[in-house]
Amino acid sequence: MTTLSVNGESRSIKASPDTPLLYVLRDEFGLNAAKYGCGLGQCGACTVIVDGKAVLSCVTPVLLLEGRTITTLEGLGSQDAPGPMQRAFIAEQAAQCGYCIPGMMMRAQALLDRDPHASDEAIRAELQPHLCRCGTHMRILRAIRRAAEELKTTAEARTGQ
Ligand code: FES
Repeated sequence: MTTLSVNGESRSIKASPDTPLLYVLRDEFGLNAAKYGCGLGQCGACTVIVDGKAVLSCVTPVLLLEGRTITTLEGLGSQDAPGPMQRAFIAEQAAQCGYCIPGMMMRAQALLDRDPHASDEAIRAELQPHLCRCGTHMRILRAIRRAAEELKTTAEARTGQ
């Protein structure tokens, strides 16, 4: 039986090892933030973080994930206690239909975790794999910048700089 570490919890799964992570997250764990968009690795809606990197969960079989650290949007905060990335997207009202937003937040979080000073160009380049047909792109960019500021302030306060 495969065991996965998701949002800090170790969980056994029933699905066969070749099942894409997205189905296990949604159907077995009830973690519905990651979305099914294309199922082909072409839209970014299903993005989660694995060992610090953005990963397309619709094309990643769970057999590759044992012993690795998986974070979904639910792991960044909750409705009652949203994390910095979630607060920033709410503050900037950076969603229209919202379907693509969880995936974008996860890739942006992975980027800022490894480079809190990421430039606008770096953010734009990083989000290239994500499709959005509504068009809140400028708000999304503002939200990620806002989250970066908050994450930097928190990190500086922690290190006393
Ligand atoms: Fe995974 Fe589109 S649903 S990339």
